Amino acid sequence: ARRYKIAVIPGDGIGPETIGASLEILQALQETLGSFQIEYTHLDWSSDRYFAQGKYLPDDWMTVLKPHDAIFFGAVGHPKVPDHISLWELLLPIRQRFQQYANLRPTRIMRGVDSPLKNISPESLDWMLVRENTEGEYAGQGGRTHIGQPWEVGTELAIFTRQGIERIFRFAYQIAESRSKKHLTFVTKSNAQRSGMVLWDEVAWQIAAEFPHVKTEKMLVDAMTVRMVHKPESLDTIVATNLHADILSDLAAAIAGSIGIAPASSIDPTRQYPSTFESVHGSAPDIAGRGIANPIATMWAGVEMLRWLGEEVAADAWMKAIEDVCAEGVLTPDLGGKEDTRGVTDAIRAKVIKNAKQHQMAF
Ligand code: NAD
Ligand code: IPM
Ligand code: MN
Repeated sequence: ARRYKIAVIPGDGIGPETIGASLEILQALQETLGSFQIEYTHLDWSSDRYFAQGKYLPDDWMTVLKPHDAIFFGAVGHPKVPDHISLWELLLPIRQRFQQYANLRPTRIMRGVDSPLKNISPESLDWMLVRENTEGEYAGQGGRTHIGQPWEVGTELAIFTRQGIERIFRFAYQIAESRSKKHLTFVTKSNAQRSGMVLWDEVAWQIAAEFPHVKTEKMLVDAMTVRMVHKPESLDTIVATNLHADILSDLAAAIAGSIGIAPASSIDPTRQYPSTFESVHGSAPDIAGRGIANPIATMWAGVEMLRWLGEEVAADAWMKAIEDVCAEGVLTPDLGGKEDTRGVTDAIRAKVIKNAKQHQMAF
């Protein structure tokens, strides 16, 4: 059997709930298929660890994570810790130091799930949002002077580099080329933001010339939000900056019915470092501990993790199980359903085993 090493960071809030549900499915897949075996490193890097030891990450975190084939991440964020501390001490250093410069956020409307948009069919919306994941406002540059004075200043410096823009566009074009519509929309704000965003536009059109088979168009981010709502079928691959795509991906998740189903893959396309598979959503302190978190966002991220590892059969079995369970209306409250995390997980687990066995019989 093929062997993989996966680092698991459940984190805070509903993170341990959705990760726990997903590990049950991975276990079922591994047992039923028998074609791969996963060795897990369970890491307690979380706000609880911060309360106990004053740190989210150990000093040698890069050495600890590096030998893994992937990182499976729940969520971080605790009501008693300022968010800029928890995020800058756990999630963002991993994305940046491991050069996970591409964050993939697919959006589809699953059968059985209601979109808040009228007159939309599941087939008419299929987006791949490609988020630049290391630069822009997330470069962490800026500061405060004259703290507490009436003339206090806070700056948030957005950093964009030619290399950083080129690499995200080359990666996004490869994705656009592999999809049937071969259509790429890049998003900036180069009317108001006249330096970094203008550089984005210039580099985008340069890379576009390398991919003549893909139709390229530019959108300003404000108009893009309107387009996503009014003409969702006209979009396919979308590329945007770190901050713009952060916002657009929550909008995309809402259009697809709930942030509880939206996955995210923070990828190092060079495979020098492990990539992280996570959800778009956070630790949801408002529902944590109640057993009603939707596990599908983390599970779909698990599917993408299996694809990244090359385990397509297992990935397909899992994704089909998720789709079928949604189609049957087995849904958590965020999707208007009455099931809890346990109920949805059991339903998906049963279908995963059935799908995997069917595959065994066919081959
Ligand atoms: P959130 O995504 O945690 O929650 C927003 C809303 O969506 C809440 O009402 C929540 O109950 C609901 N929701 C989210 N995921 C759900 C799921 N799986 N099932 C059902 N409902 C779900 O965003 P927030 O409230 O802005 O942030 C909470 C904390 O999470 C903050 O500390 C924030 O910084 C952090 N955060 C972390 C990540 C991450 O770890 N990747 C992402 C976003 C926010
Ligand atoms: C996300 C999250 C993070 C981000 C936060 C928690 C730092 O919102 O993954 O979308 O902005 O990247
Ligand atoms: Mn976000």
